[in-house]
Amino acid sequence: MKDKIEALEREIIEETIKSPEEHEQFRIKYLGSKNRIKELFLEIKNIPNEEKKEIGILLNNLKQTAQSKHDSFTPKLTKKNKSQRIDMSRPVGESLVGSRHPLSLIRSEIIEIFSRVGFSVSEGPEIEDDWHNFSALNFPPEHPARDMQDTFFIKNSDKEMSLRTHTSSVQVRVMEDDSPPIRTISPGRVYRNEAISPRAHCFFHQVEGLYIDEDVSFADLKQTILYFVREMFGEKTKIRLRPSYFPFTEPSAEVDIYWGLKTESDYRITKGTGWLEILGCGMVDPNVLQNSNVDPKKYSGYAFGMGIERIAMLKYGVNDLRLFFENDIRFLNQFRSGI
Ligand code: DAH
Repeated sequence: MKDKIEALEREIIEETIKSPEEHEQFRIKYLGSKNRIKELFLEIKNIPNEEKKEIGILLNNLKQTAQSKHDSFTPKLTKKNKSQRIDMSRPVGESLVGSRHPLSLIRSEIIEIFSRVGFSVSEGPEIEDDWHNFSALNFPPEHPARDMQDTFFIKNSDKEMSLRTHTSSVQVRVMEDDSPPIRTISPGRVYRNEAISPRAHCFFHQVEGLYIDEDVSFADLKQTILYFVREMFGEKTKIRLRPSYFPFTEPSAEVDIYWGLKTESDYRITKGTGWLEILGCGMVDPNVLQNSNVDPKKYSGYAFGMGIERIAMLKYGVNDLRLFFENDIRFLNQFRSGI
């Protein structure tokens, strides 16, 4: 028995393992389920009891020798290995975590800026009834102001619905559901029946702002807008307010920021004036307060609305609105990843 063990030991020592195939053959022969060492273990039952202990030790050592020889083999990269599809020695590649959509980044930034001065976030449905999208906002039936916004109507047997044309509809819903003080912004998607071009799309995104309390003044509105644009575009940003008209605010204004006239494209986007319109705003019309169950004698408030795409185009220098909706991976990859 001892001779057999010694012979097998010599054989194991003399084995050469040069390739992964030989490595596997070695494993099957000496460590596999029906290996040569196991065969010797089975013979233990035939030897006298007093020798069993010593033989047992020798066989265990033999097993150890085979195991260490097996473990010490590290495959070298031969020419053949290099051409194999999986090269385990290559450094791990950068993992792709994707990036957030630019509109989502700007939306979060707007929410963040307003939440720092106490605005909450509210949302409303995209399929809206006439009351919330128009009537409660002081657009009477047949009023020409309804033509300002080309509406997609949805035929429903009992009630005519439409895709909301602006997020101002959420103002009404919030005032109906809550009582003042109200300080909220409502980001969301809106729809208009417009021809698709670099400057217009049949859907886009807006953020509506609303503040209702006792003694809210136009000065509060102006200061809030100034705070917002400075956070968004830099602390030196200048604004100007131009009188305007919206059915749901009185007085109403449009706000321009001073963009400057440094480059060719500045001339184009500001039409040579240096000023650029970024939002509409005003003091909430008393009729709108009344329609939404808020007492206009006790409360006043301001509202504003802006397009998210507009802000994103300015911040990121994007000159075609359609890029936001085409999901071209080369465009989307340019925006930072993260939350
Ligand atoms: N709803 C307007 C639009 O879609 C934007 C707007 C203007 C909202 C003035 C307002 C506002 O709240 O006061 O064009």
